[in-house]
Amino acid sequence: MNHHALVRAFDNSRASDVKENPRLRWHFGIRLLHWLTVVALAAQIAIALRPMDRPGMATMNWLPFHMSVGVTILAVIVLRLCWRIFTRAPVRQTPRFMRFATVFFHMFLYVAILAVLITGWLGYRPMPFMPPARLFGNLPVPLAPSVGTLSARGFALIHAKLVWVLLGLTAVHILAAMVHFVLLRDGVMRSMFFSRSNIDSRE
Ligand code: HEM
Ligand code: HEM
Repeated sequence: MNHHALVRAFDNSRASDVKENPRLRWHFGIRLLHWLTVVALAAQIAIALRPMDRPGMATMNWLPFHMSVGVTILAVIVLRLCWRIFTRAPVRQTPRFMRFATVFFHMFLYVAILAVLITGWLGYRPMPFMPPARLFGNLPVPLAPSVGTLSARGFALIHAKLVWVLLGLTAVHILAAMVHFVLLRDGVMRSMFFSRSNIDSRE
């Protein structure tokens, strides 16, 4: 079963509406950047919690790559927020309260991921023998200034804690997406998915 068939099987009640009416879907760019965030974030977590968390020099060896992936995520999020200003969310018959709660929660997700990224940057201090901070070994990345009384080490610890807050929020977000997809079948999942609209809509 390919993923289009899977989406159809679960999320079908207003599937044809979603395809025919572009206002029921997220803009293509928003969908692309949303799934790019998911992939990059998963890769980042995998790096940070596996090879980087080994004893000895592992952290220092992986840190330049961790920083580069992080700066890429930051670029994606900033682009996404800019794009978001010029696009409208899908138009739905959602009760006002639910709409408000959704917007609030999504804002919270953006704030959480930005907080992780900024504290990571504030906590990044290459060791004296490490090469200068460069994005995948190319573009120079400015080092954060010292802020307040917290040391870089302090920010790195807050950074690692905030990752769990972000993961908790993401878990709730995924759960909500699954409720829409499997139980409500109201096209919310489909509004964030890709489908071959011309071929599908003739079925
Ligand atoms: C969404 C993006 C990011 C995620 C999910 C993430 C995740 C993590 C995690 C889970 C750790 C703890 C690793 C451990 O226990 O050893 C960590 C450590 C760290 N991260 Fe990130 N990070 C992100 C972005 C960044 C960015 C953009 C920077 C720097 C510009 C950065 C710099 C650091 C530093 C300095 C540490 C401490 C390493 C040490 O133990 O000395 N992170 N990160
Ligand atoms: C497997 C994981 C994920 C699934 C299944 C998923 C699913 C969805 C769906 C269906 C929507 C549309 C909601 C609506 O139209 O009301 C959405 C929106 C959104 N998602 Fe996710 N998502 C996932 C992971 C993530 C992650 C890791 C983040 C980043 C922290 C994230 C941040 C957002 C935000 C901020 C929105 C609102 C879009 C906007 O206002 O720009 N999602 N997601």
